[in-house]
Amino acid sequence: MNLEKYPTLTIIQHPLIQTKLTILRDVNTDNYMFRTLLNQIASLMVYEVFRNTDTVEVEVSTPLETTTGYKLSKEITLVPILRAGLGMVSGIHQLIPRARIGHIGLYRAKNTLEPVEYYTKFPPNLSETKVILIDPMLATGGSASAALTFIKQRNVKDISFVCLVAAPEGVERIIADHPEVPIFTAALDRELNDHAYILPGLGDAGDRIYGTE
Ligand code: PRP
Ligand code: URA
Repeated sequence: MNLEKYPTLTIIQHPLIQTKLTILRDVNTDNYMFRTLLNQIASLMVYEVFRNTDTVEVEVSTPLETTTGYKLSKEITLVPILRAGLGMVSGIHQLIPRARIGHIGLYRAKNTLEPVEYYTKFPPNLSETKVILIDPMLATGGSASAALTFIKQRNVKDISFVCLVAAPEGVERIIADHPEVPIFTAALDRELNDHAYILPGLGDAGDRIYGTE
């Protein structure tokens, strides 16, 4: 696949991520294992997602002397898209424990496939933080694009989007609507089916996390 047309997309192809993702794709993987591996992959992705994050120098006193160290230049806000985004939050939060968490509740209407908002709650001073939008599935891109619009309406300038499996259609939608937003995924799959499910994909992420199907 020609990835040059997706300049903001990073596919994180670490062997640990790819082998765990293979188990997630397996229809025989149960809800408990699905949740566990999804959070583990989210943790492993953090390293790459934060690779270009700005830091500022700080003075630190070791037991022996004072030296220069670093801290992230901005606070971090994690924003999962409900429901399935919640399945990656604790894996990321383990590595960024001081991050605050906002929530965006969206579901795809069964007939139109358009995102329907039912809940939004952000921490204060969102615009001063680096926001990481989280949703395992980027299918048509309607949900993530709407969520990015909500976040930008709060005047946030520094946003990244983290997913697990992306379809080309979704990546193209985000690049068209939000060309400045870096997209991180563990896999770029082939296409969408007639019901806008990702192929080969892993099925309905929310149902597989919460056992609702
Ligand atoms: C899934 C998924 C994304 C969305 C992706 O959520 O978690 O939010 O679909 O599809 P899109 O790119 O075509 O918008 P769903 O609507 O099934 O809600 P859920 O997480 O509550 O199950
Ligand atoms: N949402 C999912 O959970 N899975 C898909 O394949 C597409 C959208």
